[in-house]
Amino acid sequence: MIASAPGKIILFGEHAVVYGRHALVSAIDLRCRVEAKKCSEFRVISPLGATGLDLKVHPYITFAIKRFCDFRKIEGAEIIVKSEIPIASGLGSSAAVTVATLKALSYEFGVELDNEEIFETAKKVEIDVQGRASGIDPFISTFGGSWIFPERKKVELPFQFFLIRLWERSTKAMVEKVANLRQRYTEAVDKIFDAIDLIALKAPNCGLEEFEELIYMNQSLLRAIGVSSPEIDEIVSKLEKDGFKVKLTGAGGGGCIFGIFQNKKPDGSILVRPELEGVRIEDS
Ligand code: PMV
Repeated sequence: MIASAPGKIILFGEHAVVYGRHALVSAIDLRCRVEAKKCSEFRVISPLGATGLDLKVHPYITFAIKRFCDFRKIEGAEIIVKSEIPIASGLGSSAAVTVATLKALSYEFGVELDNEEIFETAKKVEIDVQGRASGIDPFISTFGGSWIFPERKKVELPFQFFLIRLWERSTKAMVEKVANLRQRYTEAVDKIFDAIDLIALKAPNCGLEEFEELIYMNQSLLRAIGVSSPEIDEIVSKLEKDGFKVKLTGAGGGGCIFGIFQNKKPDGSILVRPELEGVRIEDS
């Protein structure tokens, strides 16, 4: 059985959301496709390699299989992954592979899991692997759509976005960097988070021009909390000189930057749309 699940883009509110502020997050139309087949042993084949159950190469899939065994004990399965979502770029590739694996396994082995169960199980898998997680990625990947967190208020976004991939980086390291800054300047950093919070709440009601102003403001605030870098600032200013408004999405330090697409897009960027559909079974 084949299932697919979408990646995501954080439009506003990364880092601040870790400290209880709001974030605006959308599923995007880049999907991860996972095929699960009954088999006498466990095999996982993905762009990362071909392994058995392997916590180093395929931690999310391995834990997804272990967690699936809480519903139905299985002795083997072949898992084949094909993904359009770049890895370690803040676009939710880990959650998408987890969610699609759970859905494909549930259909292949005849276990009925509704979306709430898939989301809850995928969230446990994220914690198994990362130790700590907000749960935003598995939620978006399971349900699709655009949402304000933590309330889970569904919103509609009439925009298409361009994405520029920078380089891989560690979410954990960036979250720690912000925690360290906040420890030293708690009140100042909390005020920055408050401003980001207002931006995330305002954004869903904005037209194009205001949305772009908010992109500019949020990027400036991300710089203030130290998750941009001279290299990223240089790329951002070059794009601004060319007339684009862009910001980092996700943990920063690399990953991706995005802007709203209007007729022209920067060289090397890809276009994505908000995706309404979450995890689903594919015909074949
Ligand atoms: O870059 P990503 O997709 O891992 O996003 C991290 C978002 C943070 O707000 C920095 C952390 C979090 O858990 O919300």
